[in-house]
Amino acid sequence: MKMKGKFLFGFAILFVIGFLSACGTGGDNNDDSQNADGNGQKETLIIGTDAAFAPFEYLDKGEIVGFDVDFIDAVMTEAGYDYEIKNVGWDPLFPSVENGDVDFGLSAISITDDRMETYDFSVPYFESRLLIMVPEGSNIQSAEDLEGKLVGVQNGTTGQTAVEKILGENNENIKKYETTAVAIMAMQNGDVEAVVTDNTVAEEYVSNNPNEKFEVIEDPENFAPEYYGLMFKKGSDLKAELDEAINAVLDSGKYAEIYEEYFGYEPDVEALKEAAQE
Ligand code: ARG
Repeated sequence: MKMKGKFLFGFAILFVIGFLSACGTGGDNNDDSQNADGNGQKETLIIGTDAAFAPFEYLDKGEIVGFDVDFIDAVMTEAGYDYEIKNVGWDPLFPSVENGDVDFGLSAISITDDRMETYDFSVPYFESRLLIMVPEGSNIQSAEDLEGKLVGVQNGTTGQTAVEKILGENNENIKKYETTAVAIMAMQNGDVEAVVTDNTVAEEYVSNNPNEKFEVIEDPENFAPEYYGLMFKKGSDLKAELDEAINAVLDSGKYAEIYEEYFGYEPDVEALKEAAQE
C-alpha cells in the first residue's frame, strides 16, 4: 500500500513537471522554425547547379527549373530552410562545394567512389544509367562499337569515365564539352558520331526532338546503375539533416508525386532505399 502511494505521488509530480514544461516558452518544437534564427527568419542555403541538363535542371525563360528543383524544394520545406539556386556550371561546381561558395551541389550528380574521396553525398534520390545517343541508323549498337568513333561527352561526367574505360583515357576521339547540351549540338553538326550521357536526359531529348532523328542505344552490360545524390563538402553537418528530410519526402509520397509529374510513372522508392544501404 505504502509503496503504491509513493509511486502514484511520483507519477503525479512527473505529470505536473511535464505539463509545466509543455506550457513553457522555452521549447519550440514547431518544425518551421527548425533552422530559423532568433527572429524566426529561416536560414538561406546556397545550392550550386549546372542548369543545362533537362529534365533535371535547365533554364526556362531565365529561371532554373526541373525535377531536381522541385525535389529540392520539397526537401528544403521539410528541413525548414530557405534556399537559392546558383547556376555555377558543372566544372566549377566541384571546387565551389569544396571551398564553401555553395552549401551543396544539386545537379543530377552520380555518387561515385572517386567523388566520395573528396565529397560527402546524401542518400540516393534518383536511379540512372548511361546511354549512347546516336543518329538514327548508326552502326553503333553497343558500347564496344564506340571504338574508333568520335564520341562526345560532358567534361568531368560519368559519361566521360565510361567512354575512357572503353576507348582508353587519353584517346583523342573522346570530345569533351562544357555541357551535355553542347555535346548534343556537336552531334547535330556532325562533329561527333555518338554522345554518352544519362538515360533520362538522352531519352527526353530524343523524344522531344523527333526531327533531329537521333536514337538511344542501351547497353546494361557496360553501363551499371548510378544514383544521384546531393554533394556536400566532406564533413558537412548538412548531410545528416538533409538525409532525414530526403527520407521524409520519399516516405510521404511527395517524391512519387513529383516523379510522376515528370516521368508519368511511379518511382521505385524501395530500390532507392535499398541502394542507400549499400
Ligand atoms: N550524372 C552524371 C554525373 O554525375 C552527369 C551529371 C551532369 N549534370 C549536369 N547538371 N550537367 O557525372
